[in-house]
Amino acid sequence: MSLLRIEALTVRHGGITALDNQTLEVAAGEIVMVTGPNGAGKSSLMSCIAGHVKPWQGHVVLDGRDVTGRAPEQIAALGLSMVPEGRHVFGAMTVLENLRVGCGLRRDAAAARRDLDYVMDVFPLLRERAQAQAGLLSGGQQQMLVIARALMTAPRLLAIDEPSLGLAPRVTDQVYEALLRLREERGLTLLIVEQSATRAALVGARMLMLREGRVVLAGDPRGMSAERIERAYFGYEEAHA
Ligand SMILES: Nc1ncnc2c1ncn2[C@@H]1O[C@H](COP(=O)(O)OP(=O)(O)OP(=O)(O)O)[C@@H](O)[C@H]1O
Ligand SMILES: [Mg+2]
Repeated sequence: MSLLRIEALTVRHGGITALDNQTLEVAAGEIVMVTGPNGAGKSSLMSCIAGHVKPWQGHVVLDGRDVTGRAPEQIAALGLSMVPEGRHVFGAMTVLENLRVGCGLRRDAAAARRDLDYVMDVFPLLRERAQAQAGLLSGGQQQMLVIARALMTAPRLLAIDEPSLGLAPRVTDQVYEALLRLREERGLTLLIVEQSATRAALVGARMLMLREGRVVLAGDPRGMSAERIERAYFGYEEAHA
């Protein structure tokens, strides 16, 4: 059984159809990367899965449970944590306080402490800067912090919207190294949005490319020619190729 299943899901914003009747699955332990150009519907998909936006039609099934229309806190409690686009840290709070906010739903304090320790092992910088004001961290450091904070709810599936946006390639590499480690050591399932297919190929992810609210290309990007990826991305008709 898949960890996440999206059935005939349509997301609309007013009159705009951002996601158009799409069915997708993510298996436990998988890395799935959702790619595609601006306005393709990537963030709409993520927001809907995490409960921030209600679907127009269709279902979101998490670990066999229909979570369609549930609140984000309920979905997080069932094992799906989402890091939205744009790195929203609580700027006036310290790094440690930000991480403790992430523990809000936890009942087992000892387990939460162990997880705090673990995320600080994965992101050593957060331990070094534990008492620093979060708003003063660099973009890359803030990205690590929001990922670490999302991990504090002990998710089985971590969904991240454009983690590399605005980061130097070296910093992006560090973020992905940490994510791959979490997958390896914790069996974390990853659903990540990135505009380009390059990172998906680098990390061995299965790619789902969206364009105008529909999946236009799916599979292992390492087996796809650059030309095929480009055609799907820009929406050139096969007949013109
Ligand atoms: N809150 C909103 N209100 C109205 N329209 C919206 C809203 N959010 C998204 N849209 C529209 O829905 C479509 C899909 O947007 P979405 O943000 O999901 O795309 P995206 O693939 O994440 O793009 P980007 O790469 O720029 O982040 C676009 O046409 C966008 O203008
Ligand atoms: Mg987006």
